[in-house]
Amino acid sequence: MKKLLASKWNSLFPRPGTGLLLLLAVLCLPASVSAQPQPQPQPQPQPRPHAAAVASAHPIATRAGMEILAAGGNAFDAAVTVTAVLAVVEPYSSGLGGGGFWLLHVADTGRDVMIDGRERAPLAATRDMYLDQQGEFVPGLSMDGPLAAGIPGVPAAIVHLAERYGKLPLERTLASAIRVAREGFPVDEHYREMARFRLTALQQDPESANLFLDENRVPETGYQIRQDSLADTLAALAETGWEGFYAGPVARRLVAAVQVAGGIWTMDDLAGYQVIERVPVTGAYHGWKITSAPPPSSGGIGLLSMLNILEGFPLAELDAATRTHVIVEAMRRAYRDRAEYLGDPDFVEIPLSRLTDPEYAAGLRASIRLDRATPSDFLPGSPGQTGGQDTTHFSIIDSDGNRVAATLSINYPFGACFTPVGTGVLLNNEMDDFSAKPGVPNAYGLVGAEANAIAPGKRPLSSMTPSFLEDENGVAILGTPGGSRIITMVLLGVLDAAAGNGPESWVRVPRFHHQFLPDVIRYEREALDDETVTALEERGHVLDVLEHSYGNMQAVYLDKKSNQVTAASDPRGIGSSQVQAIE
Ligand code: GLY
Repeated sequence: MKKLLASKWNSLFPRPGTGLLLLLAVLCLPASVSAQPQPQPQPQPQPRPHAAAVASAHPIATRAGMEILAAGGNAFDAAVTVTAVLAVVEPYSSGLGGGGFWLLHVADTGRDVMIDGRERAPLAATRDMYLDQQGEFVPGLSMDGPLAAGIPGVPAAIVHLAERYGKLPLERTLASAIRVAREGFPVDEHYREMARFRLTALQQDPESANLFLDENRVPETGYQIRQDSLADTLAALAETGWEGFYAGPVARRLVAAVQVAGGIWTMDDLAGYQVIERVPVTGAYHGWKITSAPPPSSGGIGLLSMLNILEGFPLAELDAATRTHVIVEAMRRAYRDRAEYLGDPDFVEIPLSRLTDPEYAAGLRASIRLDRATPSDFLPGSPGQTGGQDTTHFSIIDSDGNRVAATLSINYPFGACFTPVGTGVLLNNEMDDFSAKPGVPNAYGLVGAEANAIAPGKRPLSSMTPSFLEDENGVAILGTPGGSRIITMVLLGVLDAAAGNGPESWVRVPRFHHQFLPDVIRYEREALDDETVTALEERGHVLDVLEHSYGNMQAVYLDKKSNQVTAASDPRGIGSSQVQAIE
């Protein structure tokens, strides 16, 4: 039967040579077909959930978010609280010194919007700022210290969420974060692992070492991390809103410390930072409406592109190796496009309509052979990029049906490992998400990663993929950290949802990943059995089993028929989810 299916497809789809030609023809279309956002589908009547839910990467943040919902706050107030508490208890993942994307669904109007609080390159940033005089990339400059830091967006997003969408004042919604910052939180094994990973860089900055290490060493489990200056900065934000961070004493301290340490921030950089409300990208997969992050994240486009390619394959009927093979080939093609076309939409024209069009995906699908991997260097394109290794995600629904999917980052664990004295603000190293050295034109005349080259005031391309899925049965809110693997993790979660499973399953599903370059499938051991690995190798894939699991998905699901809410946290992390009936 499986052989029959395979031969039927091989005759349905063009031969590989033809497929590749078709792919090249499609890829060589002008890049400016359209950069218009897709029309928003009409709002559908929303059910009132029987409960509210929060799933986040840290139990202290989940609890604080639930308390705000119980105190009369809405999902957006809870998002402010969870964002701020995560900034305190997960300094290795996100924080006031970082950025993120908050995908919102406003139940009253049915409107979906994404708050883009992504970091911006400082105005003094230059395209070649991380290259030496010979034009070679200098490792470390975009990773450690203040030169690696973009202008943070989290504080502005907190204020925007509270003022535009929340019901409660910031004094209320930031209170738990301020308290936890002053009282401290206990170090756990995950914290220790992250601190160990970045120990050398943390030791190089006395303020970061003072805050996040114990006598310059990785703190023992149970050691209390207290952050008084961060509490003061949060209090300034609560009292004076945007000015509390981007103007006045906090801003002056940030800029002075950055400049003394060799960074290029100015007061104008902070004064000029604003969040942007963006129209999410939308698409469909087997009856599900997918709503996800638009550029400057590559997440939504990448996710829709892979789903569009896969829509043409009967995944449930395939043997494990063929199923994995076609998913990997979809990943390969979507990541090729990511590397080539995507960047900050305020700086580059992105062929958004084309990249998310099922007809375009059909062209990509036609180039997939069922019996053989397509080597990545057969596809025109430029080197893929890896994202950071840490970030965080939370998902929230309130009892009115408002929803938030938020993925936040300071990029690498503990970001740039640089904390301006007196602010408690650990800075990001999100500048490393730019292409520090865009590639030279390839044989097809395509210039790799040019769209994501550094420019003053530009936002670096992200992989963060906060998403909603909705069909007539229910609504899902999901996302995960994990650098460049974020998009494929969300893909596997969506495929699991489409297979009829619930959030407990989506967050657990064993993971594999391909990102065009390097041309290798990286996988969690449980994701592929020996027989599948051998069958994939026979098709020409190179595989690399990972020693550690990855990702930390947080998901919430509303069953529209029963109005019951369920939530789940990835068992790979220390996060927690809570569901609670709220009058
Ligand atoms: N820093 C991870 C990302 O934005 O993709």
